[in-house]
Amino acid sequence: MSLADKDRIFTNVYGFQPWNLESARKRGDWDNTKDLMARGQDQIIEDIKASGLRGRGGAGFPTGMKWSFMPKEPKPGKPSFLLINADESEPGSCKDREIIRHDPHKLIEGALIAGFAMRARAAYIYIRGEFIYEAKVLFAAVEEAYAAGLLGKNAAGSGYDFDVFVHRGAGAYICGEETAQIESLEGKKGQPRLKPPFPAGAGLWGCPTTVNNVESIAVAPTILRRGAEWFSSIGREGNKGTKLFQISGHVNKPCVVEEEMGISFRELIERHCGGIRGGWDNLLAVIPGGSSVPLVPAAQIMDAPMDFDGLKALGSGLGTAAVIVMDKSTDIVRAISRLSYFYKHESCGQCTPCREGTGWMWRVMERLRTGEASIGEIDMLHDVTKQVEGHTICALGDAAAWPIQGLIRHFRPEIERRINERSGDLAVAAE
Ligand SMILES: Cc1cc2nc3c(=O)[nH]c(=O)nc-3n(C[C@H](O)[C@H](O)[C@H](O)COP(=O)(O)O)c2cc1C
Ligand code: SF4
Repeated sequence: MSLADKDRIFTNVYGFQPWNLESARKRGDWDNTKDLMARGQDQIIEDIKASGLRGRGGAGFPTGMKWSFMPKEPKPGKPSFLLINADESEPGSCKDREIIRHDPHKLIEGALIAGFAMRARAAYIYIRGEFIYEAKVLFAAVEEAYAAGLLGKNAAGSGYDFDVFVHRGAGAYICGEETAQIESLEGKKGQPRLKPPFPAGAGLWGCPTTVNNVESIAVAPTILRRGAEWFSSIGREGNKGTKLFQISGHVNKPCVVEEEMGISFRELIERHCGGIRGGWDNLLAVIPGGSSVPLVPAAQIMDAPMDFDGLKALGSGLGTAAVIVMDKSTDIVRAISRLSYFYKHESCGQCTPCREGTGWMWRVMERLRTGEASIGEIDMLHDVTKQVEGHTICALGDAAAWPIQGLIRHFRPEIERRINERSGDLAVAAE
């Protein structure tokens, strides 16, 4: 099971052709956009629902359903907005930047169609501050679209007025969380809001807002052009369509590739990455969905389907499909400890379990790394992860807890070995 070239949505993901409007049109973008919009707002939402598209930003929420939460008749003085999340700061994730720098018109056309479907007045694209080149391309592509009459008044000749604004972030991971992103866009400190109310009820400036990932929006025009049945014929039940996988770490050829949802890990790596460095026997573990999901040991992941349900069944998740491969040369405790440091650094500090817990967990992880901890601290650390998980305003707390839980679940003997080895060394030294 793997994706045929004719079914690829992102035909310029490697930038072999120019990103500009002329080339994008040759690839089929902006082709009769007006006709797609003429189907009507409700029909577009129905088509996206029928396609089975689930959000590509990590949580996998059904996209059509999310759009349907937006008011059908915006209240006076309360326009609706689409906010496109291009913050992409999760370690391992690097797909949205490829879309933006090589295929920006897919995203801009998607913004118009999705924005129209949810009766939005405008779309904001919030792009990660470090994406300097990508932002330049995006600004230029938006300008091209305005100059060609595809945005602005009577966008693409549809009779609908729609604007797209690009906003550069300042480099905080937490601004990828949807409500922190809204705060940041409003000019405030990027700190998550308590939910409810959800953004569809009260988002940007208190107005109805839908936040979607770049990939979720960029695939929408092709789904509508080729049909919901085409998209839903790819992948498994509940896990439909194509997906950009980003494979990094100890493979022979790391890459970003569009594949069928549900492709097995082995096929993904063999077909696109030239295999595992040192061969399959050298595989130790994989973090399959970006740094916040629990790792999966080699024996369990090898033939697993790479989709939401397949990885959930292994106690992990598809997340953003950022697949981090680790071979046996990896110091697995150190690797997870480094992730703990990242989450400690990125905590916005609003809630106590996250602010205090991320630092505490990282310090214990460091003691486990050096073997200085006692065996009892392993369970204590696990308990603390359970007290952080689900007890915070946003999911950064969960993201900090899950990698540690995965490590303890699968590599406890390795953690104990270090502690025993160190206490053995100390005992010898004391003799
Ligand atoms: C700490 C944190 C960081 C996040 N970072 C991103 C991000 O960089 N990009 C993204 O699309 N979603 C990110 N999300 C998820 C968003 O909150 C939101 O669910 C997503 O943008 C919705 O898009 P989708 O429905 O198209 O998947 C993050 C969530 C959390 C808790
Ligand atoms: S969980 Fe962490 S990052 Fe999220 S709001 Fe609370 S303190 Fe901030």
